[in-house]
Amino acid sequence: MLAVTGAGISAESGIPTFRGKDGWWRREDPTRLATQAAFDRDPAHVWEWYQFRRGLVAEAEPNAAHRALAEWEAAGKDVLVATQNVDDLHERAGSRDVAHIHGSIWRVRCEGCGRERDEAVHPLPELPPRCGECRGLLRPAVVWFGETLPMAPIRQVEMFLEDGVDLALVVGTEATFGYIRAMALVARRAGGLLVEVNPAATVLSELVDVRLAGPAGEVLPALSAWEGTGP
Ligand code: OAD
Repeated sequence: MLAVTGAGISAESGIPTFRGKDGWWRREDPTRLATQAAFDRDPAHVWEWYQFRRGLVAEAEPNAAHRALAEWEAAGKDVLVATQNVDDLHERAGSRDVAHIHGSIWRVRCEGCGRERDEAVHPLPELPPRCGECRGLLRPAVVWFGETLPMAPIRQVEMFLEDGVDLALVVGTEATFGYIRAMALVARRAGGLLVEVNPAATVLSELVDVRLAGPAGEVLPALSAWEGTGP
């Protein structure tokens, strides 16, 4: 089973989405927070936003949806979670096979020497943070608008789909990006029943086999209860 997840799966853990009600992009301009140009112009401003979000993630707990996916994997099902989320709630729920296609909020990359490392200290003592090796500016190692996706997680998804899948679950995402819709459709072509879990309709809704219109924290555990150990 391939689970493609987005901000909606973490909403019930108290982490805001981007485009939904109370979403970030309803009140903030993404070109001032999530682009390289914005970072070049005002790294402190961008880092303040990431510092705030790191705090939310640090305080959040995985919810029943994250746990359901982890339980299916623990029960022996072949599950790959391909997430757009930069939080670590899938891992903290116990999922081991997680492809972070938009990077991680806990990782930083030096603009000077290019080194990348985990930096999980919160709050960061210095904003913007600097590289311990070369004193270059550190930026969040996440994917911003206009940037290419990291190869490793994309390859992980491709390799997973090469063997075929029985189910593709798309949870809590607007599927705004073409590569997310493509991933779902490729999974379907690889044999998976395409199921969307989202309280609201999205651009993907008309293309899926089944739409489960409800919050992920209720729908995913219900799938477990329905089939014993889940899909
Ligand atoms: P969005 O904020 O675009 O969409 C969140 C989706 O979650 C919406 O379709 C909601 O209806 C749904 N949702 C809300 N609560 C839910 C719940 N309890 N259960 C299930 N679904 C729920 O978030 P993404 O699609 O993840 O990238 O956004 C993709 C990317 O756009 C993000 O990774 C981020 C953003 O800009 C960058 O910053 C580059």
